[in-house]
Parts: sequence; C-alpha cells; structure tokens
Amino acid sequence: MTSARRPLLAQLLLLLLLLLPPGCRPAACPSVCLCLSDTVSCSAAGLTKLPLALPSFSVTLDLGHNRLTWLPPGGFARMPRLENLALAHNRLDALGEGAFRNASGLRRLDLSANRLLAVERHYFLGLWRLEELLLFGNRIAAVSGAALSGLSGLRTAYFSANRLADFPFASIRERSHPFLSMLDLSSNRMRRLPWEAVAALPGPVQRGLYLHNNSLLCDCAMYAVFRHWELRGYGAPRDFADQHTCTAPGNPRATIRFLRQARFFQNCSVEQPAAAAGAWGAPLPVTVLLPQVTVVAGQRVRLDCETALSGGGAALSFTWRTPGRGPLAAGAPPLSLFANGTLEIAAAEVNDSGSYVCTAADGERALNATREVSVTVLPPPPPPEAFNTGYTTLAGCVVTAVGVLVYLYMTPCRCGCCKQPRPPAGPASTFDPGDIAPALFSPAGARDRRETHAHKHVAFLEPASGEEGTDWPPES
Ligand SMILES: *[C@@H]1O[C@H](CO)[C@@H](O)[C@H](O)[C@H]1NC(C)=O
Ligand SMILES: *[C@@H]1O[C@H](CO)[C@@H](O)[C@H](O)[C@H]1NC(C)=O
Ligand SMILES: *[C@@H]1O[C@H](CO)[C@@H](O)[C@H](O)[C@H]1NC(C)=O
Ligand SMILES: *[C@@H]1O[C@H](CO)[C@@H](O)[C@H](O)[C@H]1NC(C)=O
Ligand SMILES: *[C@@H]1O[C@H](CO)[C@@H](O)[C@H](O)[C@H]1NC(C)=O
Ligand SMILES: *[C@@H]1O[C@H](CO)[C@@H](O)[C@H](O)[C@H]1NC(C)=O
Repeated sequence: MTSARRPLLAQLLLLLLLLLPPGCRPAACPSVCLCLSDTVSCSAAGLTKLPLALPSFSVTLDLGHNRLTWLPPGGFARMPRLENLALAHNRLDALGEGAFRNASGLRRLDLSANRLLAVERHYFLGLWRLEELLLFGNRIAAVSGAALSGLSGLRTAYFSANRLADFPFASIRERSHPFLSMLDLSSNRMRRLPWEAVAALPGPVQRGLYLHNNSLLCDCAMYAVFRHWELRGYGAPRDFADQHTCTAPGNPRATIRFLRQARFFQNCSVEQPAAAAGAWGAPLPVTVLLPQVTVVAGQRVRLDCETALSGGGAALSFTWRTPGRGPLAAGAPPLSLFANGTLEIAAAEVNDSGSYVCTAADGERALNATREVSVTVLPPPPPPEAFNTGYTTLAGCVVTAVGVLVYLYMTPCRCGCCKQPRPPAGPASTFDPGDIAPALFSPAGARDRRETHAHKHVAFLEPASGEEGTDWPPES
C-alpha cells in the first residue's frame, strides 16, 4: 500500500509546493539536501561536514548515513525551530563543547550507530526540552551523571549495544527526571551493578528499565531486584526472559537464564511468590520468615515475630504496628495475634499492603526487639479476556495512515531508486539501529514480533498501565 501510493502523493505534495507564492517557498536548501515543508533531509549525501547554510525554518533535520566526524560549536544555533535531529550512522567519536548551543528546542536527538566513546558532562548542555535520546550502537564505555542531570524533560533513553560496565543510576531521580519511563541498557558489558541504587530508581524508570543481555554476575542482590520486577509483570523480564542471563561466580562459562532457572537462587531471601504457597489464590497459610512477602488477595498470611529475643526463655509480649489498623496488642478480627507473636491475616486484601513492624518486649530485662515485614497483596489475576480485534484493527489503520504520512515527510528519496530500503512504518515494528522512525504497536503485535525479532536489542513497547506497588519497602 505504501509504495503504491507514494509516487502519487509525493507528486501532489510537490505540486502544492510549487503552487506556493514565492515568498513562502523554503529559502536556501543546500543542493545535496531535500527540503519539504519544515523537514530537511540530507541523509546519505556523503557529507563529511555540516552544510553551512541549513535552512532556518526546519523542525526536522536528517543528517543520517553520512561521514560526519565532528560537529562545530553552535552548528545548529541558527535553527531556532529545530526539534528532531537525526545524526545516526555517522562517524562521530566525540562531541565538542557547544555542539548543541542555542538548539534548546530539540526534543529528539538520534546519535545511534556512531563511534562515541563516552557521554561527557558537556554533551547535552541546554537540552532541557529533550524527550528522546538515542545512543545505541556506539562504543560508549562511560556516561557522566552530570550529562544526564540537565535533561529534565527526558522520557526515553536508549543506550543499548554499547560498552557500558556501569551507569550513573544515582543521577536519575524523580525530581530530576519526572518523565523518564524507558531506559534501555541492554547488550552492554555490565557485571556488577549497585543494586541498591537500581532499586531506588523512580518507579516508572524501574518499570521501563532494560538490562538483559549483559554479563551480570549471579548473586542474590541481583536476583532480588529482577524478582521484584518479574512479580509485577514489568516489560523487560516479561518480554526478554530468555535473554536475562548471569554467570555463576567462579565459573564464567556457566550461564544461567535466571528468570527461567530460579532454583539456582532458592537460598536467596527474596520475595515469596504466592504460587509457592499453593495454587494462585489457594487459601494456604504462608508463614513469613522473609523481610518481604507478596500474596494474592484472599490468601491467609502469617507474619512471625522472630527476633533476637526469641528462644531466650523469657516471657515476651508482642505488639504489631500495622499499616491500616495502627498498633495492635491483641488480635482483632480479621487479624489474630498468637501467643508466640505471629500475626495472622485471615484473608488479605489489597489495602492490607504495607509495612508491618512487630516489637517483642522482655519486660523483666527491659529489652525489646523489632522485626519488620513488608507485605504486598496483589489483586486477584483477572480472568483472561478476548482481545478486542475491532479496536486493534481501527488503531492499526490509524497508525498506518499516520505512518504513510510520516514516511512521505520524513524519508524523501532523491533518486527514485532508494539506496537504503526503509521499513514501512506500520502498526508493528521493532527498532533497529538502521531505522529512523520508531513505531508504536499494540501488545498483541509486540508478542508476534518478539518471535521474529528476538535478536534485536531494543523494542518499543506500550507501557503497562495502572499498576501500583513500585515502591521498595525498607528491609528490616
Ligand atoms: C545563542 O544564545 C545566546 C544566549 O542565549 C544569545 O546571546 C546568542 O545571540 C544566540 N546565538 C544565536 C546564533 O542565536
Ligand atoms: C548481546 O550483546 C552482544 C554485545 O554485548 C551483542 O553482540 C549481541 O548481538 C547481543 N545479543 C542479542 C540477542 O541482542
Ligand atoms: C541451598 O542451601 C542448602 C543447605 O544449606 C544447600 O545444600 C544447597 O546446595 C544450597 N543451594 C544452592 C543452589 O546453593
Ligand atoms: C480494606 O477494604 C475493605 C473493603 O474492601 C474494608 O472492609 C477494610 O476495612 C479495609 N481495610 C483497611 C485496613 O482499611
Ligand atoms: C506461632 O503459633 C502459631 C499458632 O500456634 C503457629 O502456627 C506458628 O507456626 C508459630 N510461629 C512460630 C514462629 O513458631
Ligand atoms: C524499646 O526499648 C527502648 C529502649 O531500649 C525504648 O525507648 C522503647 O520505648 C521500647 N519500645 C517499646 C515498644 O517497648
């Protein structure tokens, strides 16, 4: 469909352009570029330098597939409307001071498939409106936290297929990056990560964090983090379960698909899946010896009060501080408090989630000790729903129509023979370093595509919606 309509529509647009009064015609389009509306494409033009006179009206500038090795300071300063800048597939190995000076309107910056070795603190100075940053397919070994801290508008950032061994997780905070919801760090060289800093990332960042296909070392701290995400159905563990691998310490050849082979972590104290207590929703009591527990609504939960004072022979008295009902020194339905301090919730409700703190007091010796358990009660799994195909088809048509327009505007073709074939922007597509236009697609499409494009590092997935419980409760 796309290719059949393209010539006709292109001719139509060209005609419109020629019919414009001379004053409205775009001024000064460099001869190697193609200018249409507010889009300028100089892609695959053999450029080794930035063209001097780039039209000042452009909103979208494509300089991809050239041989640029550096960007002069202020090179885009005379383009006040510039929002999308594509520099993919060039030979940039570093960015100098002021490369994006006075280009503060940029919203999307594509530097993928270059030769960048690092992201230094001055790289993105002033780009506070930037929403999407594409850096995959470079040789980046270090990212400066300061380079990211000014990007307060950032929504998605792609760092996959680089040489990162570490990432400045501590510079990503809710206050500094309130909109960030996708951070792709897959296919790098990460071995040990500061898992506490990862677990302290804002909830939306954790939900959209991709760390698969790294060279992680297997340990409990690592596993606990992925387990937390897996139990909540986050995108990365769900969509790339097979590519989450770690190597056993002391045996670098033993690669474990840790989301599939959980038995390697049976001795780690991680969140207890409800399934371990029986079938989902089965009302078996779960006696919790772990600092965190996750159950499904309706299950019976028992929280023990084993502390340093337990087993000392002294008579202990117990009080529990509960999230919903305040302090409890005796059972009150639906909660029971046993003589040994164990607290039982007969049928947990979602609003019973939170932090439970038990204090065991030895009155004679004036000693006390506390134990904290964090309880997460998940809503019961919804019954499987038939997918609404009518809606999908409609959405597919709309996306395709938009895709055709984007195709016409974004990828003008000088020669009619199209040296680089571009994928049609359709309702379903994964992202490849060679592509420029990302496409949205439905979760159903995502699953189909995942089969065929399992080798791709980056996927554009719709964010999962309406789920709470990203917080990491403090451990006792
Ligand atoms: C760039 O911005 C600075 C201050 O924001 C201004 O003084 C300067 O004239 C601008 N340069 C251009 C080329 O617009
Ligand atoms: C995993 O990462 C390596 C580089 O670290 C890359 O060569 C390989 O293609 C990636 N594999 C997948 C399945 O993405
Ligand atoms: C877990 O601990 C038990 C007993 O301490 C031990 O026998 C077993 O090998 C351990 N499992 C793993 C996977 O380390
Ligand atoms: C939780 O919600 C139920 C109703 O769904 C209510 O009966 C109960 O009192 C609530 N519990 C707390 C601790 O607020
Ligand atoms: C405490 O008592 C209850 C009820 O008798 C029992 O089920 C539970 O296992 C006991 N907890 C501990 C830690 O001994
Ligand atoms: C626990 O002991 C401390 C002093 O060691 C005391 O200040 C505190 O009030 C005690 N708490 C309870 C609940 O008894």
